[in-house]
Amino acid sequence: MDEQQKEDTVMMPRIGEKAPPFTAVTTQGEIKFPEQYKGKWVILFSHPADFTPVCTSEFMTFATLEKKFAGLNCQLVGLSVDGLYSHIAWLRTIKEKIRYKGMKDVEVKFPLIEDIKMDVAKKYGMIQPGESSTKAVRAVFYIDPKGIIRTIIYYPLSLGRNFDELYRVLVALQTADAFSVALPADWQPGDDVIIPTAGSCGVAKKRMESKSEMKCYDWFFCTKKLGKMEIDKKLKKMRRK
Ligand code: BEZ
Repeated sequence: MDEQQKEDTVMMPRIGEKAPPFTAVTTQGEIKFPEQYKGKWVILFSHPADFTPVCTSEFMTFATLEKKFAGLNCQLVGLSVDGLYSHIAWLRTIKEKIRYKGMKDVEVKFPLIEDIKMDVAKKYGMIQPGESSTKAVRAVFYIDPKGIIRTIIYYPLSLGRNFDELYRVLVALQTADAFSVALPADWQPGDDVIIPTAGSCGVAKKRMESKSEMKCYDWFFCTKKLGKMEIDKKLKKMRRK
């Protein structure tokens, strides 16, 4: 591999790995990541550039939903390869001038990382040269209270993220952990959840014959009910721990 190829190689952290550590300057002061977020969930996300329309719509939405994410013990941390003064000026413009879809006077209170040298963006595979070598793609990393990457979602420059989905993923990850279950396609809180595959035929047969809340479609595919209130109660309890 020559030097250019080495430089072009994109490092991609993977699900299940420790979040790569870094120290960075942000609009809320210096942060040590993920160290200072121990015990909390974090959504670390990148955007391509300050003073651009899709990013502005996203930032206003993130800021508006910040409390809802905090309610699930989740902090938001943004990043772009712009400098601190650009970040400050852009966030001030958003607050003072932009009214969009009923959102106005929106103050971004979560940290926005300056990353002019792209050190952090490169560590997290946010620079994807096929899309842009000078801007970060729209990456979303879910990092759990132990600093482990649990989900990664990438969007291209031209497409704003779906915030219902970003929130659903967080609830789903916490529910899967809390109840040792898996979640089926399009799962929403209150829908049936998947119980782990039975280890033996005997267990599977019993499951299929059982008159409990469980429903088996075949030996490898069983679901059970899990109410919204039960989820809320347990997640709240876990947050207090
Ligand atoms: C935007 O946020 O509008 C945007 C940023 C970079 C490239 C394309 C669109």
